[in-house]
Amino acid sequence: MKIVICFILAYLIGSFPSGYLIGRIFFHQDIRQIGSGNIGTTNTFRAFGVLPGTAVLALDIFKGTLAASLPLFFRIPDHFWMIIVGLAAVAGHCYSIFLHFRGGKAVATASGILLAYNPPLFVLGAVLFATIILLSSTVSLASLIVLPVLTIVILFTGDFYLLFAAVVVTIIVYYRHWPNIKRLLNHQENLVHIGLAYYL
Ligand code: G3P
Repeated sequence: MKIVICFILAYLIGSFPSGYLIGRIFFHQDIRQIGSGNIGTTNTFRAFGVLPGTAVLALDIFKGTLAASLPLFFRIPDHFWMIIVGLAAVAGHCYSIFLHFRGGKAVATASGILLAYNPPLFVLGAVLFATIILLSSTVSLASLIVLPVLTIVILFTGDFYLLFAAVVVTIIVYYRHWPNIKRLLNHQENLVHIGLAYYL
């Protein structure tokens, strides 16, 4: 029973549409009608600036961390459940009950699971992510590179629970980034106003 409650709470936490709410409350605009139409950090950054973008990043990461921590709060001993319950938050983020089952692209919320479960790997992913953005000014490229790279790193750690989650999240991220992949291939991807590539 406790685990079912964890799943429901995690899905609801993941469903919290941070980017959408910040756009609506502070800017009276629907982020889904702006830029890439995504409700995540990158599009919030593009549409409303650094502070709102940072707030969405923090909130979306926190959703994953909080959801993955639920089994600990409920004293469910096996750490395996942290990952599985965390994935329910990713599902909520991508298919939010508050947005007619539409939502974001999974990256920040999934990284929040990693922050709760394996902080050093989170830091590694974050450094790699930031480096790719600084070099390319292309957040989607960072998302599409970091996920498979982290999956390979996790393969060598021998943590097969985490490997399972990494494979699932990588598939979700690629699926949700399909429009980005097409734009990248056509050299039409939206850049962000940071990074070396933007100024070259
Ligand atoms: O994680 C989202 C990011 O990779 C791309 O966002 O708005 O450029 O589609 P966006």
